[in-house]
Amino acid sequence: MIVYNEQTNVFKLDTQSASYVMGLADGRYLGHIYYGKKLKSTDLSDLLRIGENPFVPSENARDKASFLDCYPMEFSFGGTGDFRESCIEVLNEQGQAGLELTFEGYRIYKGKDALEGLPATWGGDSETLEITLSDAPTGFKVLLSYSVFADSDAVVRSAKAVNGSAQTVYLNRMLSACLEMDEEAFEILSLHGSWARERKIQRQPLGYGSIVTESIRGISSHQDHPFLAAVSADCTQTAGEVYAMHFVYSGNFLAKAQKTAADTLRMVMGIHPKQFCWKLEPGQVFQAPETVLVYSGEGLDHMTHTFHDLYRNHLIRGSYKDKERPVLINNWEATYFDFDTDKLLSIAREAAALGIEMLVMDDGWFGHRDSDNSSLGDWTVNEKKLPGGLHDLVGEVNRLGMKFGIWFEPEMISPDSKLFAMHPDWALQLKGRVPTQAREQWVLDLSRPEVVDYVYECLRAVLHTANIAYIKWDMNRPLTDIGSSSLPPQRQGELSHRYMLAVYELQERLITEFPDLLLENCTSGGGRFDPGMLYYSPQIWCSDDTDAVERLLIQEGTQLLYPMSAIGAHVSDCPNHIVGRNTPFETRGIVALAGAFGYELDITKISSQERTLVPGQIAQYKKYAPLIREGDYYRLASYRENHQYDCYEIVSKDRSTALLFLIQVLGEPNRRSRKLKLRGLDADAQYEADGKRYDGDTLMHAGFVHKRMHGDFQAEVIEFRRV
Ligand code: DGJ
Repeated sequence: MIVYNEQTNVFKLDTQSASYVMGLADGRYLGHIYYGKKLKSTDLSDLLRIGENPFVPSENARDKASFLDCYPMEFSFGGTGDFRESCIEVLNEQGQAGLELTFEGYRIYKGKDALEGLPATWGGDSETLEITLSDAPTGFKVLLSYSVFADSDAVVRSAKAVNGSAQTVYLNRMLSACLEMDEEAFEILSLHGSWARERKIQRQPLGYGSIVTESIRGISSHQDHPFLAAVSADCTQTAGEVYAMHFVYSGNFLAKAQKTAADTLRMVMGIHPKQFCWKLEPGQVFQAPETVLVYSGEGLDHMTHTFHDLYRNHLIRGSYKDKERPVLINNWEATYFDFDTDKLLSIAREAAALGIEMLVMDDGWFGHRDSDNSSLGDWTVNEKKLPGGLHDLVGEVNRLGMKFGIWFEPEMISPDSKLFAMHPDWALQLKGRVPTQAREQWVLDLSRPEVVDYVYECLRAVLHTANIAYIKWDMNRPLTDIGSSSLPPQRQGELSHRYMLAVYELQERLITEFPDLLLENCTSGGGRFDPGMLYYSPQIWCSDDTDAVERLLIQEGTQLLYPMSAIGAHVSDCPNHIVGRNTPFETRGIVALAGAFGYELDITKISSQERTLVPGQIAQYKKYAPLIREGDYYRLASYRENHQYDCYEIVSKDRSTALLFLIQVLGEPNRRSRKLKLRGLDADAQYEADGKRYDGDTLMHAGFVHKRMHGDFQAEVIEFRRV
């Protein structure tokens, strides 16, 4: 619910359990009043501390800078007196920057508008507040948009710049959100890693100055995640305060928490100002992406549940949104580039016999690509490997009763490709320089509409040749050489964002023309695992690291924000190809169960004993798939913290079933059994597990005694069913 109190000039947005409140100082400056536990009153303007030093400009124009530099700006602007982190910078024709954004008007409407060309949460039972701010001397405007949903505790917001001035201006910085709070000894939670080590949780105290997490790699990145949360020092899974921001965007981003001299906290999030400069002619508009805000007064669990539910109910789209995903087998780790129809079919035959439902043919099926150094851009089937083309191969796979999926890396161009020979100007490049290769490839200049059309026609041509049910959309390098031979000099700064808009356009066209296609995004594993991508694909390949132990850490960070149905998770072979570790097949199966489940190995080569385990693993996945897709996730213990074991639980929304996952990474001598306190159960009900009955309150408050496991890398999943 959204209300505006005209007497107090207060805007109040209520979610299920939180309130987000803004007000006006001097009737002009939009300030942040409060975000936290739900409040009844809208008479909250006192909290803006108007009437004390530094006084509002109308009372103290001679020291306006002091006011601007400490007022809790709802959308911060710089150059005129606020020296803290700014959300916007507009350079005018005179080469000068400086704004003073003041309140012009507002509207409240039912529903939520889509953001043109951008991924964003979508409607349902929702309500939106749009506030217009303007810069009086120029007529430049910013429209802030806030939406709340009847079934969610999140607030989503975005910002739109409108050049209402009479001259052409350049947006040097246009972030999406700013959140101002009184500093209460917050700690900062964020996610970091690298290739094969994505999204590991980091928590650190915040002192004076700033903590920044950012990407200028052209992708949201393996290294830093577009997420930042301020948490109270006492915050645990079940108690304490959390203020989280998550960016619905897949390219460069900046997220910053700044503790100011006035002991306040300013958090900002948006497209990274580096490599960004957007030209706006009079009347033109720039839409900045959406940021999701979540407040929890009950620790991290509630934050996680809010993100999971919002993404399941208001971000993911398409026919697989609420549907079981086929259990797939991907040939990448089985064959790498060394495959042909016979090899793929031998894998498919064995897989089909064991109950696997889809064969995914990975990299290497086109041009003359026998390693990663060639053919990207030439999307024609290599008939030496696949005689009879896709038509024959897919027909055979379908006859085995399996679906067929295919790998693409549409955004790339190889130096040796026919495409590059024909269009050397289609690669991103800086004039007079040979572009930097990464994985022996360059990036296509997707700011050119003809390149976007070419890529799309290649995709659709392949999809029309055979019965293809799934695409793995890969992207294996960061963006460098940010230059386009087609953009004029003043628009080169638009390239990184134009590139992202083109990726979104391509995926939108794809899922519109092929609504039953299952799209899985992938960026060298999880380099673009972000809410933006989730708008187009209901699942994303989480990491190239499929080692069961490393995956625990990667999945823990990912599950903090993303529902398990969004997390591509496969059982691979041992010794693991990346870390060389041996773990039991059963353990790999249990770790992959907490995701969109599949296999990534040569099923014809694994031991017969491992093969016999596959049907049971699939049956288990199928049995629990609805629960895993829809249930509430609870983190009970973390191997990251205790260096011994991992424990998490998934509980159905009606609390009738709970699955307890326990993975003992390292065995330890001379220890007693583990007492595990479950969460989210019905305290008044009884549950049965392994033929024994337990009271819900006992399981939650006193715990469940689990006998010590013997050995390293042991795993168990226990089902508790309400009786
Ligand atoms: C990176 C992906 O993450 C892998 O799964 C695989 O598809 C390779 N690329 C293929 O080049």
